[in-house]
Amino acid sequence: MRRLAPALRLDGADAELIDLIKSIVAACKEISFRVGQGELSDVLGSTLNENVQGETQKKLDVISNELLKDLILETGSVMAISSEEEESTVPGNPQGKYLVTFDPLDGSSNTDINSLIGTIFSILPAPQGADPADPSIFLQPGTAQIAAGYVLYGPATLMALTTGKGTKMYTLDKTYGGFLLTTEQVSIPGVTSEFAINMSNQRYWQPAMQNYIADLLKGKEGPRGKNFNMRWIAAMVGDVHRILCRGGIFAYPRDLKDPKKPDKLRLMYEANPMSFLVEQAGGASTTGYERIMKIQPVDIHQRVPVILGSKHEVESCLQYHQPM
Ligand code: AHG
Ligand code: MN
Ligand code: MN
Repeated sequence: MRRLAPALRLDGADAELIDLIKSIVAACKEISFRVGQGELSDVLGSTLNENVQGETQKKLDVISNELLKDLILETGSVMAISSEEEESTVPGNPQGKYLVTFDPLDGSSNTDINSLIGTIFSILPAPQGADPADPSIFLQPGTAQIAAGYVLYGPATLMALTTGKGTKMYTLDKTYGGFLLTTEQVSIPGVTSEFAINMSNQRYWQPAMQNYIADLLKGKEGPRGKNFNMRWIAAMVGDVHRILCRGGIFAYPRDLKDPKKPDKLRLMYEANPMSFLVEQAGGASTTGYERIMKIQPVDIHQRVPVILGSKHEVESCLQYHQPM
């Protein structure tokens, strides 16, 4: 079992990047410990505040955000951070090589039911000489990511990580406190019979997704000629983890439930890092009309439709989408 840092060194990651990832991991270990204590650590429940997205912040959203922000900025190698829980970006070292954008706690609604939650992060290059307080330095497409990952706080605490040389998984060994490499190369099966989507939004989807899911539901008797199974964890980090482990397709498509918010998932700290992990594991990721990692962001909290997972199934779904 190899430890985090030697595994990264073998992949050619430089010392500063390894230190930065180790700092993110240190914050996540602390979050993992507190999550593991449940009710005993007084981290469950909501605060009285809303974040910039208009969502009530859970105590754990705030605690996780503070831990990550402090440890990441302390490295000195980061020019600025951007977080789901911060309205604007937070400047760091003007000479820093990296930018980090993160969702401190994904699946917040699962905190109070002891179900899957996680932290998602993405590391981008910092444009040298730029103003660390200028949020536009973050507006880089997903293809610019240097590294991306998530830490899943489940029965075991796991990390999926890519630096662009495949996707690896590490498991937190709670007996000595370090992450050990447990999957050298994640490989998503190309074919699947499992889909993940919030079916309660069905009537609000656009025709392409309506038709695609309707055909999956027809099963053996329908055009796909096989039965499909459905899973929904209500935490992208849990659904994507399952897909990295055994394949499947995950979709959070555009819907008209709230016309002011047609898309749910955030490009910079949900869709892009997950797309990088999925593509590096042999899967595909799209909005239905374009590759997610090619999108030029216009806002740090921008939302996008997401369809990702097993390559052939994503391709089947794309056949229902006509170019706009
Ligand atoms: P967050 O907790 O960071 O706000 O993200 C939750 C997201 C995502 O993780 C998940 O896939 C989706 O919201 C769940 O949406 P539903 O409430 O529609 O199930
Ligand atoms: Mn999230
Ligand atoms: Mn979140």
